[in-house]
Amino acid sequence: MRRLFLYLFAARVFADPGSAACGPCHADIVKRYALTGMARASTADSLGSGSIGKSYIAFIDNFLVQTPRSFFAKTNSFALSPGFPSAQTYRPVEEPCLQCHATGVRLVKGTQNQYPNPPFAEPGIGCERCHGPAEAHAVNPAKLRAERRDNVCEQCHLTGAAKVTRAGKNPYDYRPGDRLSDFVSIFVESSKNNATDHVEQLSESACKQAAGDKLWCVTCHDPHGGLKPNACQTCHTPDKCGRGPQCATCHMPKAESADAHVAFTNHRIGAKPQPKPFRLYWPGPAPARELALARPTIAGLEKIEPKDAAVLTQLGQLYDRVKRGPEAAALYRRALKLNPSEPTAAANLAIYEFQNGQVAAALARWQGVFARYPGLSGPGLNLALAQSQRGDPSAARATLLRLLRFHPGNAQARELLSRLPP
Ligand code: HEC
Ligand code: HEC
Ligand code: HEC
Ligand code: HEC
Ligand code: HEC
Ligand code: HEC
Ligand code: HEC
Repeated sequence: MRRLFLYLFAARVFADPGSAACGPCHADIVKRYALTGMARASTADSLGSGSIGKSYIAFIDNFLVQTPRSFFAKTNSFALSPGFPSAQTYRPVEEPCLQCHATGVRLVKGTQNQYPNPPFAEPGIGCERCHGPAEAHAVNPAKLRAERRDNVCEQCHLTGAAKVTRAGKNPYDYRPGDRLSDFVSIFVESSKNNATDHVEQLSESACKQAAGDKLWCVTCHDPHGGLKPNACQTCHTPDKCGRGPQCATCHMPKAESADAHVAFTNHRIGAKPQPKPFRLYWPGPAPARELALARPTIAGLEKIEPKDAAVLTQLGQLYDRVKRGPEAAALYRRALKLNPSEPTAAANLAIYEFQNGQVAAALARWQGVFARYPGLSGPGLNLALAQSQRGDPSAARATLLRLLRFHPGNAQARELLSRLPP
């Protein structure tokens, strides 16, 4: 039964455009790789190969959502999806989710979770995610200089404490061989017990620090499947500490993860625990704009020449929080000039406009945001409230019914709906 299951997945990999291009000449690798968790990291209806668990995805209209129930391999049962407040809601499947679990992601530009069906060209991590596009000369990561080599795995295995897209860049334009730090600034502090912290954990390892660039993920992992045998012994003598040959069982113990993902292996080999400051993951100074956005404060952001929507919106939100409404509104307006689809700026500006009597303008903005971002319940509720206050209960009802399709348990929406005149 299991064999048949795996065969079907292998057939799926062969049938897909990107990786299929490699099949005729690299049949052995294609076959072996098809059995890995990475090759099976997504299907049309789930994220995760199932070795740890699966989260189910579904379309509501053309919005892709994560459902409240996930499968957990450890208990072989279904339970509330990690991080979900209740079983009465769906979460937007935003681009990062799919970019780490699939290949050729097709997000509709300027939206949060609108995709065609299927939402990606190829399920799972295709060959090209590590070797570059099929039509170009294949990059061999092992032959790149250390930083660019490590970047190939860091695309997905380095979450960090904060991740900020560089000005004017799209992080998913990164291709193997590029420098990841040209696209995104990733900040780290003391590594957590998260299942996507392997890179951070290894960087704290005394073994890694001593071994330097000679030690990387692929020293121990065969990227096409399985662990390399006796990887520790390529540098340490087999009797290094005299406690037996299964080095990893003692030096890389297993534990529960603290985040959404479940079991993980401690990669901080031989590290002495000590707190680490918040810093850019890569050596060298952090770019000022990205640093200011990573830990946003008014003083920090006011020092940045606000030329982009991200900075303007972030500063606007901080002004809002300290009741500097008019200044915040001015920043949101500038942000929207630069990026008309910026949802936070539009939704917050609408609140300001509504409070200052510009009801029609506010309604139009909320309508625009709610049409494209039904996963954000705030703008939907505000829109419905404004519609009912303006004496248009049927519009308010339509708004609330749509909101409830995405958040069936939303108490405020239910309450408001029950108070609408029939
Ligand atoms: C027409 C046959 C053919 C196809 C199709 C093909 N390759 Fe290759 N590839 C080869 C041959 C032959 C070599 C060995 C050349 C060598 O040893 O340098 C090679 C070498 C490689 C290398 C090692 C390169 C290096 O510099 O070390 C990688 C990585 C690679 N291929 C990846 C891919 C990927 C990924 C695909 C699909 C997108 C692919 N290849 C499609 C024939 C092919
Ligand atoms: C495009 C994203 C992506 C890239 C690039 C990537 N990984 Fe993964 N990796 C994943 C995801 C997602 C999983 C979880 C797969 C699952 O089980 O659903 C995973 C799982 C793994 C596993 C667990 C075992 C397995 O076979 O799935 C290992 C080991 C691993 N990756 C190593 C690496 C190494 C080494 C590199 C770099 C050479 C790398 N990964 C690059 C996303 C990625
Ligand atoms: C930065 C990249 C990244 C992002 C973003 C990400 N994941 Fe993952 N995910 C991983 C990696 C890497 C693993 C494998 C972890 C391991 O094996 O320890 C994983 C594992 C999983 C698994 C368990 C797979 C298994 O092996 O059974 C599920 C389910 C999952 N992710 C769902 C999600 C969902 C849902 C989202 C979006 C909310 C998401 N992931 C976002 C990288 C990512
Ligand atoms: C998770 C990243 C990753 C994925 C996905 C991946 N590779 Fe590789 N591949 C590597 C790395 C890293 C090396 C260098 C391995 C080494 O030197 O030990 C490599 C080496 C190769 C080589 C040349 C050396 C060898 O091992 O024979 C070929 C050919 C190759 N890969 C083909 C493929 C094909 C075909 C696919 C898709 C079925 C694929 N790879 C998927 C990371 C990946
Ligand atoms: C690429 C080479 C390399 C590989 C592979 C490697 N190590 Fe190391 N490791 C070193 C070097 C160099 C040192 C520092 C000198 C020493 O202690 O031998 C070190 C140090 C250590 C230390 C001591 C840290 C301290 O100072 O307290 C431990 C424990 C360790 N390694 C365990 C492992 C284990 C377990 C593996 C396999 C899972 C492994 N190493 C694989 C190179 C390597
Ligand atoms: C049964 C558990 C166990 C096994 C198996 C084991 N170690 Fe150790 N190792 C320890 C303990 C405990 C220490 C001492 C405390 C420490 O430094 O973590 C130690 C210390 C070390 C050190 C640092 C001290 C020194 O002697 O330089 C290195 C390096 C090391 N081990 C490497 C290895 C390697 C390589 C293997 C596999 C060939 C291995 N260990 C297998 C438990 C184990
Ligand atoms: C010194 C050896 C070594 C290095 C280097 C190493 N790993 Fe691992 N890794 C392991 C071992 C051992 C396991 C446990 C495998 C098992 O139990 O099947 C593991 C497991 C994993 C898993 C499966 C989930 C888990 O945590 O158990 C992922 C994902 C992973 N490693 C990613 C990486 C990435 C990414 C890198 C590079 C940043 C890396 N590893 C570097 C030895 C290593």
